[in-house]
Amino acid sequence: MTTASPQVVLSVAERVPTTRRYLMCEPRHFTVEYVINPWMDPSKPVDTDLAIAQWTALKSVYESLGHTVETIEPVPGLPDMVFSANSGTVIDGRVLGARFRAAQRSAEADHYRRWFLEAGYRDVTMPSRINEAEGDFAWTGSLLLAGTGYRTDPAAHAEAQEVLGVPVVSLQLVDPRYYHLDVALVVLSEATATRPAHIAYYPEAFSAGTQRVLARLFPDAIRATEADAACLGLNAVSDGRNVVIAQESTHLITELQANGYTVLPVDISELRKSGGGPKCCTMELRG
Ligand code: ARG
Repeated sequence: MTTASPQVVLSVAERVPTTRRYLMCEPRHFTVEYVINPWMDPSKPVDTDLAIAQWTALKSVYESLGHTVETIEPVPGLPDMVFSANSGTVIDGRVLGARFRAAQRSAEADHYRRWFLEAGYRDVTMPSRINEAEGDFAWTGSLLLAGTGYRTDPAAHAEAQEVLGVPVVSLQLVDPRYYHLDVALVVLSEATATRPAHIAYYPEAFSAGTQRVLARLFPDAIRATEADAACLGLNAVSDGRNVVIAQESTHLITELQANGYTVLPVDISELRKSGGGPKCCTMELRG
């Protein structure tokens, strides 16, 4: 067993942000009316206006950082459509759409497919396997990390590799509270020619074998605590320097600051009632 090399701590000046383009969907029809993950409890009240206010604040944070936010029109009867990250994986302008596990969400995929076509994307493939897009896929700049265990079919990993033409690493999720990869792992800075990707993750959300894979690939990763994971702190969005994150994730916030990141805490209390945070509401349009 080899020990990991000592962590290289970069300063704020060395954390270089890049301008991003995101796709978001206003939670105008947001409710919790069915249960498809352990966070959802239809007997608890949801304040849709507060969800809209929190989402609007999130969008403003991105815009204040100079990022572009595109929006898709929300559809009545699709309360989870706000979670745009689940509806497409876009790398180098190639789009792999979604195929949801739950019947309640299946109609979302086609609304997003049409958005891509109207936005001018020419290379749009709809998957044949259950595929919840960036819910389970995280791009590191060189690898597509791909979660499975609750939603995305493991066969969708090979399909993503074929369609997107990028190497895929399969990761096994084992805790039902962390049913998507994007609630257990976040890419903080992408790999460049000179530097490997930097990530944070909650090890206990993954199988023993996957924990070893992550330790091998990312020896300098930030390891989040149970408390970080339990407020959906890992469902964060980074542009390489600025990290938008649930405000309750205090340990992870301190770790991020110690690693040269600028932290922008947000309040996502209403969306969390559905099992979502900032990243779930944010699909990245790469190219
Ligand atoms: N209620 C939604 C579901 O269970 C939440 C999805 C959150 N999205 C995400 N990218 N993790 O499908």
